[in-house]
Amino acid sequence: MFRRFRFLATVAGLCLAVGVMTTLVSYSVTLYRLFCQVTGAGGYTQRATVDTAARSDRTVTVSFNTDVAPGMPWRFVPVQRAVTVHLGEESLVFFEAENLSDHDIVGHATFNVTPDRVGLYFKKIQCFCFTEERLGTHQKVEMPVDFFVDPRMVADRDATDVHDIVLSYTFFESLKPKGAENLARFDNRPPDPASGRVLFATVCSACHEVDRNKVGPMLGGVVGRRAGSVPGYPYSTALAQSGVIWDAGTLDQWLAGPQHFVPGAEMPFSLPDAVRRRDVIAYLETLTPHAAKDQAASAAKQPPG
Ligand code: HEC
Repeated sequence: MFRRFRFLATVAGLCLAVGVMTTLVSYSVTLYRLFCQVTGAGGYTQRATVDTAARSDRTVTVSFNTDVAPGMPWRFVPVQRAVTVHLGEESLVFFEAENLSDHDIVGHATFNVTPDRVGLYFKKIQCFCFTEERLGTHQKVEMPVDFFVDPRMVADRDATDVHDIVLSYTFFESLKPKGAENLARFDNRPPDPASGRVLFATVCSACHEVDRNKVGPMLGGVVGRRAGSVPGYPYSTALAQSGVIWDAGTLDQWLAGPQHFVPGAEMPFSLPDAVRRRDVIAYLETLTPHAAKDQAASAAKQPPG
């Protein structure tokens, strides 16, 4: 009971709005609003962030399990069956839902992490404020979940033998929907820089900015640039000496698995979904290099490292 309370408290902490806590109590947690900072629901700046220093060499495989309540005419499946991540590495995964019926349906989901004892270490980063969600007739959408597994799991003797985690969601039909969100905001669309820009603002910007170095190097003008070449940023030796030139192809491989593409590189984040990678790369392609004086000014304000 205590553990469950602590877990709910952690999740609740991800959302700023106090009102959300009442909702959490009634439904547990669910659908993730990747775009909640855009809609002003808050939480983005207060979200859990990955502590780069705490990243661990240990990996776990997170697999995804989905279900709908009996009789609910939704197809609901994970886009990827499983991902293997380092502890502390942020990963963005997707789920697909489709309303197979001829009428609108509002659903809500519950989630569950097994084994139970690792639930505490499974952290979702986006503002996972729970709402009811509406899918129109035969509408199909992709829903993002952004998570990491807390490296503190290593220190927990109860969890040393855990190498596999299962994240399960079950959708239920809401019989008395009120204030349902329209899932169309997660709709499938061709790769485009505008959605890439939202993705960048939502996930990459925790570590990157366009015009100054932060946790990661600045990304203005990254396309066409040699990897590891922004002045004043303390790159890993691996990336600095990789000889990679950033273009759509190399960026795609990098974002799919940085340590796989450049062994020894230190970006603690990957984006397993190919469509979203194309979106964000399309956005990176629109960014122009920033003037040296901007760099100098921001380097003076905030020395990297
Ligand atoms: C949790 C922090 C974090 C997140 C989130 C993150 N990155 Fe990074 N990124 C880094 C770090 C740290 C490096 C430097 C890696 C090294 O030196 O090996 C890096 C390096 C890069 C580079 C290489 C740049 C260069 O100058 O060679 C690119 C490109 C990049 N990131 C793109 C992205 C994109 C696009 C996203 C979002 C989809 C993203 N990153 C999300 C931390 C992050």
